[in-house]
Amino acid sequence: MSDLKTKSLHAGALRPRIGGAVVTPIFQSSTFEYHGEDYHDVGYVRLSTTPNHVVLGKRVAALHGAEAALVTGSGMAAIAATMLTLLSSGDHLIVQDCLYGGTSGLLGDLTRLGIEHTAVDAQDPSSWRASLRESTGAIYFETLTNPLVQLADLEAVVEFAGQHGLVSIIDNTFASPVNFRPIAAGFDLVVESATKYMNGHNDIAAGCVVGSREQVEAIKRTLDHLGGSLDPHACFLLERGLKTIGLRVPYQSASALRIAEFLSAHPGVEKVNYPGLPEHPQHERAQRLLDGFGGVLSFELDGGTENAERFLGALELPAVAVSLGGAESLIVRPAAAVHSDLSPEERAETGITDGLIRFSVGLEDTDDLLADLETALQAAEGS
Ligand SMILES: Cc1ncc(COP(=O)(O)O)c(C=O)c1O
Repeated sequence: MSDLKTKSLHAGALRPRIGGAVVTPIFQSSTFEYHGEDYHDVGYVRLSTTPNHVVLGKRVAALHGAEAALVTGSGMAAIAATMLTLLSSGDHLIVQDCLYGGTSGLLGDLTRLGIEHTAVDAQDPSSWRASLRESTGAIYFETLTNPLVQLADLEAVVEFAGQHGLVSIIDNTFASPVNFRPIAAGFDLVVESATKYMNGHNDIAAGCVVGSREQVEAIKRTLDHLGGSLDPHACFLLERGLKTIGLRVPYQSASALRIAEFLSAHPGVEKVNYPGLPEHPQHERAQRLLDGFGGVLSFELDGGTENAERFLGALELPAVAVSLGGAESLIVRPAAAVHSDLSPEERAETGITDGLIRFSVGLEDTDDLLADLETALQAAEGS
């Protein structure tokens, strides 16, 4: 079983099949017969020990080519459990400068608990050394940033972590194991919001942590105490969603590339951010590191916020909504939604202008999406 598509269907499947069922049934039981196990291994939903959790753990590990994986109640549950396992009061963490807003918020909470962090310029590895402290225990990056779709020097992150004895952690949500496999690239731990590409259907919240057996086991113990397990029905949906990841993500990546090319050639569009475009500042690195450039792009229209709002209002297919990676295309103006808690000055510092639009390309036919975009662009300009 070497191909990701085959693994996404069969890795870790229950054998013998339960009652002959081809699909893993939903084990809707909060507790299971006790056979003398230690506390963290007892069959109990919150301890992520039901057959649904066990199958998913093995499947996600196989997709990432890792020893072990754990599914969680959300991406943030995965990130919080990971940080709280690796870091204690007095410890320090190096993070990349532009992080997902929920993660930035969590870092603020961790500061209150005595866990400090320093944000570094993701594109300038020579500057990272200055942020090292005796107490630095880990380095945390994201594969593709939100919403500007920048790709950090991930090879340098792995090298830096190795040189300084840091645990390297990457949030691989935007890439999924289809576009990038961090374990093979040398990262110690991967966290993902499985709400996005892993599940791919805009219908559950879930997360995962991937790494060595020892690390994942330690993080599971923290998750057990935080109470962040995934419920069995959501496990079933995630297992079902995962089965098509090897078909969905390459299609979304190819579709996003065509849409990025269309937008960058359009006279009404000022700027397009997509690593598949030759003019993207990290295009060469993206070609080397990624298998496909992902399904998310962002762009700015001429005419700023007002035109952007008219454009969003004229679209028929993409829903104006937060989140990404699902079957239905989603589109949002980050300054009005995902990054609305930042001041205009803070947003400007990170390059998120008020008119910037983030587009998560779904599974609709690319030509239908292009036609919808063209009509909405004309409506935005014409009024
Ligand atoms: C890059 C990234 N990481 C983590 C998360 C958090 O995931 P969840 O909403 O599943 O908790 C998100 C959610 O948008 C995200 O975009």
